[in-house]
Amino acid sequence: MKTILYMAITINGFVAGENDDTSWVSKESWESYLKTIKSMDAVIIGRNTYDIMPQDEFQPNCIYVVLTHNAPEKAKVTNIIFTDKSPQAILDLLNEKDCRKVCVSGGGQVNAQFLEGNLINEIYVDIEPQILGRGIPLFARNDISQKLRLLEVNRLSENTIQLHYTVERI
Ligand SMILES: NC(=O)c1ccc[n+]([C@@H]2O[C@H](COP(=O)([O-])OP(=O)(O)OC[C@H]3O[C@@H](n4cnc5c(N)ncnc54)[C@H](OP(=O)(O)O)[C@@H]3O)[C@@H](O)[C@H]2O)c1
Repeated sequence: MKTILYMAITINGFVAGENDDTSWVSKESWESYLKTIKSMDAVIIGRNTYDIMPQDEFQPNCIYVVLTHNAPEKAKVTNIIFTDKSPQAILDLLNEKDCRKVCVSGGGQVNAQFLEGNLINEIYVDIEPQILGRGIPLFARNDISQKLRLLEVNRLSENTIQLHYTVERI
């Protein structure tokens, strides 16, 4: 199983501004993200990200796993699992369901737990030409260290670059 993390970020490392503002994420980054998701078997997100995702953003080809302690009574889509299992237990469950490609897709709290658990193989960040004073960081904790190796740099548009890393195993 391969687990990637895919996020759009400001140059100072936020994934959203105040009040969950992601209006600065470019169309090209969205298109690239959707193309990536279409090749995935599963997408893992946190409850805060789930709550603000419009229904039409859920892709039918993926199982969505939402981390939460309070599963809603009614889900936005049918291909979804609400869970408070550990990150490793979630990947084990997806493995049992024959998922080979899994995308961890925010927000900052969920990203931090999967990185801390040493469960991410590759990272894609689309860097937008934006600085925000306040917001939600790529990783919700500031005590995680991880060495990466750059695999490729893609220019998504005149303004947006994508960095693709592999996570170095120690
Ligand atoms: N720029 C991008 O590419 C991008 C992508 C995705 C999201 N975002 C942004 O990220 C922001 C959300 O990030 P966030 O860090 O606030 O929240 P998040 O990671 O999306 O969700 C956090 C929530 O998930 C649940 N959770 C987390 N860990 C858990 C665990 N171990 N067990 C059970 N439940 C757990 C908790 O919900 P409960 O209280 O329900 O238990 C927690 O409040 C939004 O503004 C969104 O727009 C940006």
